[in-house]
This record gives sequence, C-alpha cells and structure tokens, in this order.
Amino acid sequence: MKYRALGKTGINVSEIGYGAWGIGGAMWQGAKDDESLRALHTSIDLGLNFIDTALVYGDGHSEQLVGKVVKERKERIYVATKVPPKNGKWPARPGSRLRDVFPHDYILQRAEESLRHLGMDTVDLLQLHVWNDDWTDDSEWSDAIAKLKEQGKIRHFGVSINDHQPGNALRLAATGKVDTFQVIHNIFDQSPVDKLYPFCLEKNIGIIVRVPLDEGGLSGMITADTQFPDGDFRVGYFRDDRKQQIVERVSKLKKLLGEEAATIPELALRYVLSHPAVSTVIPGMRSVKNVQSNCSVSDGRSLSKKMMLELKNHRWDRNFYR
Ligand SMILES: NC(=O)c1ccc[n+]([C@@H]2O[C@H](COP(=O)([O-])OP(=O)(O)OC[C@H]3O[C@@H](n4cnc5c(N)ncnc54)[C@H](OP(=O)(O)O)[C@@H]3O)[C@@H](O)[C@H]2O)c1
Repeated sequence: MKYRALGKTGINVSEIGYGAWGIGGAMWQGAKDDESLRALHTSIDLGLNFIDTALVYGDGHSEQLVGKVVKERKERIYVATKVPPKNGKWPARPGSRLRDVFPHDYILQRAEESLRHLGMDTVDLLQLHVWNDDWTDDSEWSDAIAKLKEQGKIRHFGVSINDHQPGNALRLAATGKVDTFQVIHNIFDQSPVDKLYPFCLEKNIGIIVRVPLDEGGLSGMITADTQFPDGDFRVGYFRDDRKQQIVERVSKLKKLLGEEAATIPELALRYVLSHPAVSTVIPGMRSVKNVQSNCSVSDGRSLSKKMMLELKNHRWDRNFYR
C-alpha cells in the first residue's frame, strides 16, 4: 500500500481508503456484519489506514462497525464521519438556508452522536454531508467547527461536495477554512479535474474521492438483467434502460484492458489515483475479495499519458441520482 498527504492535515493516508456506506446496510441491502468486519480487518492487514463513514449510514450502524474494528487494532487508523443535513435533503438545494440545514447546536449534537457510535473521544475528520457555497461566510457552521476543534472532539474539517457539483465549493476552498473535500470522481464523471483539482493543489486541500466505481457501474458486473434487492437505492440509480447504457459504455472500456489494468475496477481506481490532487480513493467494499483486489491497486503505478488521454473520451456527464 502507498500513502499520500491528506492536504495540510499532516496525515498520510493510504491511497485506497474504505468507503463504509454499504456496510451500514439500509440503502444498501445484503450487507452481512460478519463479512463486513472481516473485510474491514483485511483492509487494515493490507495497509489501509483511512475509513470514511457517516452518521446516516445505517443510522449509526456503519459507525459502530468501524469503531469496533478500530478499537481492536493497534495500527493508527484515521476515521472520517459526516454530519447529515438537518432538513434531510441530499444534495443541498440552491437557496437553502444554513440555519435549516446545519444550525450551530445541531452540528455539535450530531458530532457527539457520531463519537458515541464510534466509541471515540475524538474523530480525525468531521465532514458536512452536503454543501452550498452560499454558506461560506456564515459563522453558524464555522463557529460550531471551531468549538468542536477547541474541545478536542474533531481534528480536521471537511466538506462532502454535492453529487456532480465540484464547482459548488470553490468559494469555500478560497477561504482556507476547509482541510479536505470529498468529491465524486470516476471515469464517467471527470468534472473535478476542470477547476476543483487545480484549485485544491494550489491551496493544499486534501481530496477524498468517492464513488470511484459509479455505485457499481464501473464494477464490470452490471448486465442488462441485473436485479437489486427491494429497498436498495441502486434500484433507482440503475432504473429503466440505464443498465443497458452502462453495458454499452463498459464494453468500450473493456477494449482498453491489458497490461495497464486487467479489470474494469482496476482501471477505474488507477484512473483516479493517476491524478496528483487526489489523496485517497474510497471504494465501497463489503467483501474480503473486493478489499483484496482494490488494495492491490496501490502499487505506485500510474496509468500512461496515452491511456489518460484515451479515457478522456469516456467522460459521461449525467446524474443517475435523480
Ligand atoms: N454524499 C456523500 O458524502 C457520499 C455519497 C456516496 C458515497 N460516499 C462515500 O464513498 C464511498 C464509495 O462510494 P459507494 O460505496 O457509494 O460506491 P462505489 O465505491 O462507486 O461502488 C461500490 C460498489 O462497487 C462494488 N465493488 C467494490 N470493489 C469491487 C471490485 N473490486 N470488483 C467488483 N465490484 C466492486 C461494491 O460491491 P460490494 O459492496 O459488494 O463489495 C459496490 O457494489 C461510500 O462507501 C461512502 O463512504 C459518500
């Protein structure tokens, strides 16, 4: 496993981090705690030292699993969690008022709740789970974050940028008040490369890449007949003819497999890690098998310039969350 600086935090994070949404269950059906715990332990055995969870992932269940594993290990594992929006709206709506989404006392209370689930006194990184750049200069959120830092309850502060809106954090980036951004970046959604990454490199803001496998669209496993269990959010994400669209896109990517990457997930993870602005990529992985193959990608090999140029042609601007 290779490690990179997480912006100016002083933390060196593993290139492959752990996306812990799926292990929370609820919106991801089929998670089994035994296997999730084995997967988390295996990832740490393989050198992974960064886990991303959130209060809402299984209503605290993901945080509890993560806290349990971290307590059982002697390695230093860095944990990031998130404060959900009070109004329950993902992503933040344009024009929404900060006092309805992240009021000061609400941020403090939710952070305490996360710490209880995690069984920790301090969390390394607290992220707001949505963002609207109009809130940048409002002290409602920044006073709460300053207080949590003062009290020693959080070490660093980040924002998880709204789905497919990497431009909606540039004002915040300019203030120096944020340590990390979490953003969607994958072979289909290449938009962070346009403006966000150059800006973050300049400001030394750590980048945590989420959804590198397009919620499974870049797992190489989706066929036109794939069925997801009732209640699983992917029923909607891959609805109508979207699975067929994925199959067509992925079949073009399969032609690029070979020496540089043998599988679609490997190509997808190598693509993200080939960008110098990226600190860590956090695929969701609920099985030991997926953990092993994803962790093996961090071997210091970047994709060639030729491959990166070719992958630009596979950019696909769309929003399946709607
Ligand atoms: N708004 C936000 O802040 C937000 C939103 C979404 C996600 N996130 C964070 O980002 C993380 C990653 O995103 P995600 O989990 O939604 O999606 P993802 O990483 O793009 O895709 C996860 C899917 O890929 C599969 N997979 C993983 N490794 C694989 C491999 N080697 N071969 C084949 N399939 C593989 C997983 O299967 P299994 O599950 O069966 O292993 C799962 O179905 C989340 O876990 C969460 O921590 C944050």
